[in-house]
Amino acid sequence: MKGVVATSLGSSWSLVDDLERPKPDKHQVLVRSLVTGINPMDELMRTTDLLVKEWPVVLGCDASGEAVEVGEEVTKFKVGDGIFGCTRLGFKEYGTFQEFVGFLFLLDSHLMDEELAFKRPGNISVEEAATVGVGLLTAAICLAEGNHISFPSSPANAGDDAEWFVVLGGTSSVGQYAIKIVLAAGADETFDYKLSEIRQLNEIWSWTLGKFAGVFDVSAANTNVGLNAFREFSTASRKTFSTTNDWDTIPTSPEESIEIYRVHLGELGRYGEVKGDEINRAVKKYIPVLEDLLANGYLVPVEGEVAAVGFEQIRNGVEALGKARSGKKVLVKLQEY
Ligand SMILES: NC(=O)c1ccc[n+]([C@@H]2O[C@H](COP(=O)([O-])OP(=O)(O)OC[C@H]3O[C@@H](n4cnc5c(N)ncnc54)[C@H](OP(=O)(O)O)[C@@H]3O)[C@@H](O)[C@H]2O)c1
Repeated sequence: MKGVVATSLGSSWSLVDDLERPKPDKHQVLVRSLVTGINPMDELMRTTDLLVKEWPVVLGCDASGEAVEVGEEVTKFKVGDGIFGCTRLGFKEYGTFQEFVGFLFLLDSHLMDEELAFKRPGNISVEEAATVGVGLLTAAICLAEGNHISFPSSPANAGDDAEWFVVLGGTSSVGQYAIKIVLAAGADETFDYKLSEIRQLNEIWSWTLGKFAGVFDVSAANTNVGLNAFREFSTASRKTFSTTNDWDTIPTSPEESIEIYRVHLGELGRYGEVKGDEINRAVKKYIPVLEDLLANGYLVPVEGEVAAVGFEQIRNGVEALGKARSGKKVLVKLQEY
């Protein structure tokens, strides 16, 4: 079958037609990959080796497709169902840049791993679904596990100290989902991350007057702004900082009372590993809640844009992500449906 592989670290994308069609295990769903979201991880993995288990590798993790074969113990999906979400990163059989993707493959058969994928409700199109997986899961897990925000409710309900919630990187796809979860109506105020740190802190102060207890650094690049905003003017007694940056050391002292939460979505599906088991548990817990919010229209997918069509064009899609397309999730339509 057809797909796009990176043969070795740093090699360019190659179109191949000799990939083996994965065989679903008893808890596995085989998915016809219809539309893929392009994710910053695709290029990062190709050029750095991060999370890649084996070369050649098929990349792509923001999946949207159709179940074409289900394992004998799968109960959530049947053939023909729409299925989407974040696939396991770094393993050849799971990358979305191929015709058929093994989804939910289990190493440990007692786990109900099918709960790591979303079932597509009728009000969400195949394209819309391709914007959801990584963005919504990352946002929801950080807000719930890191900032203790129960959704769908605003942090304004959490007391005077939490009148505001600060999202750093609100134009990214994760950031847009975070804003939708925290405040369905959208952000109240915005500021530009390209300003100096001092000016960003001034902006945060001018809007919040220190009345915030939670920060989510979606960008993975603004640890200092977030922590210094807490240190300089947050009036909250309990402060929570969640971040997508799971590699740098984050320097805080116990006296500062800042709880740090780092998300590890890239470890999804890695059973028996500490970070993998932690993120699997969180994803299983929140998928049913998020499926309901999507199906009843409380959560609406972020805007996507098909930048390329066909496996031959995946490289163009990846390059499109590198060009400024602020606010829109880049999609590649892989096959007709
Ligand atoms: N650890 C994990 O498990 C995990 C999971 C998911 C995502 N992530 C990471 O989270 C980040 C966001 O992912 P994504 O998929 O949402 O990315 P994305 O949709 O591609 O977002 C990129 C956008 O972020 C904005 N941006 C870039 N640098 C920024 C900065 N320093 N401060 C604020 N905003 C900035 C840019 O906005 P403009 O175009 O307006 O300049 C850009 O459009 C990435 O670094 C990704 O690798 C980590």
